[in-house]
Amino acid sequence: MRGFFITFEGGEGVGKSTQIGLLAERLRAAGRDVVTTREPGGSEGAEALRHILLSGAGRAADDPGLEPLLFAAARADHVATLIRPALNAGRTVICDRFHDSTRAYQGLDAVEPELIDLLEAATVGDAVPDLTLVLDVPAEVGLARARERRGTSGADRFEADELSLHERRRDAFLELARREPQRCVVVDGSRSVEAIADEIDGIVDARLNGHRHEGRSMPMASWPV
Ligand code: TYD
Repeated sequence: MRGFFITFEGGEGVGKSTQIGLLAERLRAAGRDVVTTREPGGSEGAEALRHILLSGAGRAADDPGLEPLLFAAARADHVATLIRPALNAGRTVICDRFHDSTRAYQGLDAVEPELIDLLEAATVGDAVPDLTLVLDVPAEVGLARARERRGTSGADRFEADELSLHERRRDAFLELARREPQRCVVVDGSRSVEAIADEIDGIVDARLNGHRHEGRSMPMASWPV
């Protein structure tokens, strides 16, 4: 049976990494074989691109179409070398950001929506998340948390954007979740870590039970799709 693929999405400082750590720990304690990973990055080639993307070098050409291509190149490597093999081996994959981040971040730049769709088809293919948890906090709160977390080191290329753009990204995530309610669940990230973790546990358990009963046994297609 194909493994289970969970992605966490949301703006800056919404608490994804804390919740991913807690969820992974709980699922492992319940006997699941869990892989945690992140984007941009998660595989050797993608981690090499991460530096280019977060430093801002990826948009040096003053062409908004370039950055989504670099994110897509990183994602293609990540899916092919880590995510798809892990799912085919029946493992549970938890990924910090995935294609929805490209939609909510690069999708707001002057990029053709068709380009984003094409990149999704080329990179994600059949490795569509079974469940996407969108952690939602007001942009101002998230940015303050992100600032606190990084201490004296400088903001990366995205965090440095102005507040109004972060608010639009938050709205974009909420809109994505509204459009795909069968895959996405919005979780209020402004509560205590424990309250959020409890809600996430309930959502994940319900989906995992459904997944088991569906008894999906089709192997995923091999790359390229
Ligand atoms: P990161 O340091 O991993 O922080 P976090 O996920 O905790 O915010 O930064 C990743 C940054 O890259 C983040 O600002 C969102 C951005 N990003 C995109 O713009 N598009 C993408 O497709 C992905 C995966 C990330």
